Amino acid sequence: MAKPKIVVAYSGGLDTSVMVRWLIEHYDAEIITFTGNLGQQKELIGVEEKAIATGASKAIIEDLTEDFVVNFCFPALRAGALYEGVYPMATSLGRPVLAKRLAEIAIREGATYAAHGCTGKGNDQVRFETTVGALAPGVVSLAPLRAWEFKSREEEIEYAKLHNIPVKASKENPYSIDENIWGTSIECGILEDPWAAPPEDAYTRTSSVADAPDEPTTIELRFEAGLPVSLDGETLAPVELVAKLNELGGMHGVGRLDLVENRLVGIKSREIYEAPGATILHLAHKELERITLDKPVMDLSAHLSQQYANLVYNGLWFSPLKAGLDAFFAKTQRVVTGEVRIQLFKGQATALGRKADHSLYDESLATYTAADQFDHTAAEGFIKIFSLPLKTVHRVQGNPLAD
Ligand code: ARG
Repeated sequence: MAKPKIVVAYSGGLDTSVMVRWLIEHYDAEIITFTGNLGQQKELIGVEEKAIATGASKAIIEDLTEDFVVNFCFPALRAGALYEGVYPMATSLGRPVLAKRLAEIAIREGATYAAHGCTGKGNDQVRFETTVGALAPGVVSLAPLRAWEFKSREEEIEYAKLHNIPVKASKENPYSIDENIWGTSIECGILEDPWAAPPEDAYTRTSSVADAPDEPTTIELRFEAGLPVSLDGETLAPVELVAKLNELGGMHGVGRLDLVENRLVGIKSREIYEAPGATILHLAHKELERITLDKPVMDLSAHLSQQYANLVYNGLWFSPLKAGLDAFFAKTQRVVTGEVRIQLFKGQATALGRKADHSLYDESLATYTAADQFDHTAAEGFIKIFSLPLKTVHRVQGNPLAD
């Protein structure tokens, strides 16, 4: 009988390398590794050779950066989705792209199982398994890190040596890092103490305020229908645009975040993030919304942005609610077209100006000069009717604030 096939979401790091061998031993299986590039700075050189040397029969490597930015990051940006109001969700958005391809490859290869290298107490295991479960219902998810006997990195290294698995002799990084073009997530080590300030060496792609240039950089971003299309007048493809903003923002130390967050699995955890491009884009997008959206849409959007962020964070990318929210934002963001001028300086991105093709800001109504067109006399009647219910309450029931 043919051996069962397992497609493994493979990074080439210690955990997933040990995992390949461990799965061969425990499932007597044929292993196919899948590595997705989401625009991380770390090159994927040698990953294929390493997978094969570790025992895989086939190693698949694909560049998913464009799919990631266009179909995952940008819709989340248009929806203003920031988890707990601040985290642009580089990791949370990256998982469904990887899991989607993992599911597709598992189906194509006729695999029985799809395995990932997430631990048993994080959000990422949920994101992988909800997505694989939805898109490839016949494929069983495996999470060896939840099941295996190793209790430390040392034990894994020992196992790797025993089985001639190539492990890099590099000094152990005290942090757990997940990186892609939308941002970097950094946890563990000293960061587990929420009182401890993040050490400078934990950051990998942003300058400290002290090292940031003494001269600001001012940029102009154009959005069309809620999506960014150009930088300083130059039309750029989505991946290029984000890469350029990462570079500029990173140089000025923009996009650092230190966050204690609520995990889906019920615990609070502390993580730091670097997302220069995403931070600039969210700021610019919000500024443009302020002059293009009317108040009822703005108010509901704020609520739905939070819903959107929660479902992305909770691994429900491929859900009906996500589809419905996208429809809402696609419709209401059609007017979010225009430009925002942003200054990058000493760790801060600041909006300096905004203009829109269909701006709701009317200077002739807003001005306090002689050019004012606002009908001041109409205010009297407006207030009379607006205050009528409140006056009625006080007259009939008294002051609701009184004891
Ligand atoms: N807390 C973030 C999230 O759930 C990132 C998790 C992965 N972090 C890491 N350093 N590997 O989206």
